Amino acid sequence: MGSIGVFDSGLGGLSVLRTLRKALPCESFIYLGDGERCPYGERSKEEVLRFTKEAVDRLLAEGCKLIVLACNTATAVAIKQLREEYPDIPFVGLEPAVKPAALSTKSGVIGVLATKRSLEGDHFRTTSEQYADRVRIVTAVGEGFVEAVENNEERQPATEALVRKVVEPMVAAGADKIVLGCTHYPFLREVIERVVGEGVEVIDSSEAVARRVASLLDTFNIRADREAKQSCRYLSFAGEEYVEKLKMKDR
Ligand code: DGL
Repeated sequence: MGSIGVFDSGLGGLSVLRTLRKALPCESFIYLGDGERCPYGERSKEEVLRFTKEAVDRLLAEGCKLIVLACNTATAVAIKQLREEYPDIPFVGLEPAVKPAALSTKSGVIGVLATKRSLEGDHFRTTSEQYADRVRIVTAVGEGFVEAVENNEERQPATEALVRKVVEPMVAAGADKIVLGCTHYPFLREVIERVVGEGVEVIDSSEAVARRVASLLDTFNIRADREAKQSCRYLSFAGEEYVEKLKMKDR
């Protein structure tokens, strides 16, 4: 039985991989972090689509049985087309967790942090419209967040300043739920939680994604053997040095 392929523009999808590995201890994984062309968030749709397809082809060449686009940006741009092109492969995408936030907010205001490309996607627009009558959704691009994570600068004061600049206005607008709509952002969870303070919940999508993957493994009858031991390989378009970076970040 093949592995589960997990793809992101860079290191961010490791936040999803971590949850998947815990939830599915018998499954093996191949993580592909582009690295070469990260960040994707400000790139054109055409570029994001082309890079995502390259990545998916690579993971399929490795024999992956299911693909997780652990990248909200790639999901927003490419998942529909990929499902059409590869009807036999189950794909799971990442979307901002607007629904759980909208259903649990008490203040009626939720903040959504994501990349520009994700916030402009059709899917995000449709989901937001669905909840527009009951909640106000305040959106913002996490300017500089992806770069900070890629450069291992999560604990730098300059990174906290970036987070404050983007997140404080959401709290000031009354948000009591902050949705992390980019898989790099959970690496900044500690600083985001410090900035928002108690009473504001920070939500990401990785648990929901793990549940979805588990359910698709059953639907397609492709679960690994119950005795199987988990393994994980790392790939990148940016060469060996970046692969080492992925391994370090995943510790
Ligand atoms: N981690 C990605 C996401 O979830 C992409 C970030 C980027 O490359 O801009 O959107």
